[in-house]
Amino acid sequence: KTLDNLTDIAGKRVLVRVDLNVPVKDGKVTDATRIERVAPTIQELSKKGAKVVLLAHFGRPKGEVVADMSLQQILPAVNDVLGAKVHFAADCIGEPAAAAIAAMANGDILLLENTRFHKGEEKNNPDFTAALAANGDIYVNDAFSAAHRAHSSTEGLAHLLPAYAGRTMQAELEALEKGLGNPARPVVAIVGGAKVSTKIDLLMNLVKKVDALVIGGGMANTFLAARGTDVGKSLCEHDLADTAKQIMIEAATATCAIVLPEDGVVAREFKANAENEVVDVNAIPADAMMLDVGPKTIEAVNAWISRASTLVWNGPLGAFEIAPFDTATVSAAKHAAAETKAGKLVSVAGGGDTVAALNHAGVADDFTYVSTAGGAFLEWMEGKPLPGVDILRQQK
Ligand code: 3PG
Repeated sequence: KTLDNLTDIAGKRVLVRVDLNVPVKDGKVTDATRIERVAPTIQELSKKGAKVVLLAHFGRPKGEVVADMSLQQILPAVNDVLGAKVHFAADCIGEPAAAAIAAMANGDILLLENTRFHKGEEKNNPDFTAALAANGDIYVNDAFSAAHRAHSSTEGLAHLLPAYAGRTMQAELEALEKGLGNPARPVVAIVGGAKVSTKIDLLMNLVKKVDALVIGGGMANTFLAARGTDVGKSLCEHDLADTAKQIMIEAATATCAIVLPEDGVVAREFKANAENEVVDVNAIPADAMMLDVGPKTIEAVNAWISRASTLVWNGPLGAFEIAPFDTATVSAAKHAAAETKAGKLVSVAGGGDTVAALNHAGVADDFTYVSTAGGAFLEWMEGKPLPGVDILRQQK
């Protein structure tokens, strides 16, 4: 059920779970993307005359009140994005919340303090959930990026109040369905990033679902080494050689092509503009490390993107934060964006570094969907259930 099913809500107290876990430096929000993403839901509910009560977490205060994890510091950015004055209550339950809600007029917006200041939140404690539910008539979840957590505000509330997906949750689920749920084939996945160890479940799941899996970034070295290639001083998890082999065996069984680097850009130092050269992966010097995939590999990756009808992308192909080792990531991102714009590709990307990489390439807006979710996007790629989504789907 979505906001389309929510008519006649003037005067109703709508508890909206949003993700305001945004980057903050010196008390200032440095990237408001997540706030921008939830704005349409908040504005729509406010326009319909609801009393919009925002629930969110910030950081990991572990059930304690931690001053620098107060949501009050996010308030100015929320006001800016919404172009409205948002009220604030110093606690998400009890008297402060009740008093602030009692003072609301129809269409008002109120932000409640960090739900994780209470131990009950992460435990999905029934008493805490009931205390949250006491403040609302309706529950809307617009926080896909927190939906991998079975917490009171992300899952528990949907058992106590009529529950609906917000606009961002809806868009996210529709995009993900196109990505891996019921995708147009062939499906190509690009997975990069530093380490295999953080993405074993994801790789195991993907080889069963996609037609080709491009492995880039530091994790490609682990696969090359497992295959017997000497990767010199490149970042490599040698202890995961067996895991990498197992993933390649699973891929062969599932007829998923594994695309590994054929050549790489190597350097002796990990720094911007370090002296570098392009070498075949079978000729990586013993004292050098691979910091990006090379031109032949870029050509191969872009050819896979051209062949694909669907692309799912998580993680950069090289050390994109330092020039010129961003070349492959930027090239593939631009190519995927062009194919998407030409109507030939559905492109879905997500995960912290990926969004930064696509922004760096200047093409994030040209992808079909770029998820701001980190952990939730990974768990979705791993094929794991997302409690916050599952409970919404069960609503009658
Ligand atoms: C995120 O930032 O990915 C979400 O807000 C979830 O945060 P968490 O990993 O602390 O649960």
